[in-house]
Amino acid sequence: MLPLIAGNWKMHLLREDAIRLVSALRAQATSLACELLVCPPATVLADVAAHLAGSPIMVGGQDCHQAPFGPHTGDISAPMLRDAGASWVILGHSERRSDHHESDALVCAKAKAALAAGLKPVVCVGETQAEREAGQAERIVSIQLAHSLPDGFSGAVAYEPVWAIGSGRTPTETEIAGMHSLIREALQARFGAAGATIRILYGGSVKPENAESLLAIPEVSGALVGGASLKAESFLAIARAVPSNH
Ligand code: PGA
Repeated sequence: MLPLIAGNWKMHLLREDAIRLVSALRAQATSLACELLVCPPATVLADVAAHLAGSPIMVGGQDCHQAPFGPHTGDISAPMLRDAGASWVILGHSERRSDHHESDALVCAKAKAALAAGLKPVVCVGETQAEREAGQAERIVSIQLAHSLPDGFSGAVAYEPVWAIGSGRTPTETEIAGMHSLIREALQARFGAAGATIRILYGGSVKPENAESLLAIPEVSGALVGGASLKAESFLAIARAVPSNH
């Protein structure tokens, strides 16, 4: 399974800049040792998907509702994302968990809805600075993992320490390796052989300068990239840093 480099555009880019970015990605994303995924805001998702039609670059949403349709003003369902051209969806990002008080149970319901609609979820987990300082990082991530993933889960898990997101700070390679092997063990214990096919992405201040060393860490099967995914050069530089023997 090739590593996955996923771009989380968050609440950035109007249509013109979004199309300029994916046109550059489409033109320059050649002979990569990874798969590429872009997750634009819902307003430009269908346009982005149309521009990427026929290219290997995949498109994902940044969240979905747990119901397929219904009276939920402002929300977007998994079948709607699929209909707009998405094949993936990010769920349980720490910004959703904090801005919208999303619980593990809600993230789990959303992941179930995504799978039912034929979308592959990227479920995010990660500890806060205070939790890490209290020596609770492993415990928190284990709890989030146990309660955010539905039975029969497939797709990807992203380990994103909350304090590393947008901060320019990252855990040490040893810390990342330790957390990723803990996640791998939990996935295999719960899902058996299928647990080995779930990618574990690292996210939080991934940039061209640190991508090579982060992507070389055992059990890091890709990256979830925020800020550096908004420019074609930096996103592609990260994709090119994937070791070819992964
Ligand atoms: P960052 O964001 O790369 O800007 O730190 C990562 C994320 O929030 O997914």
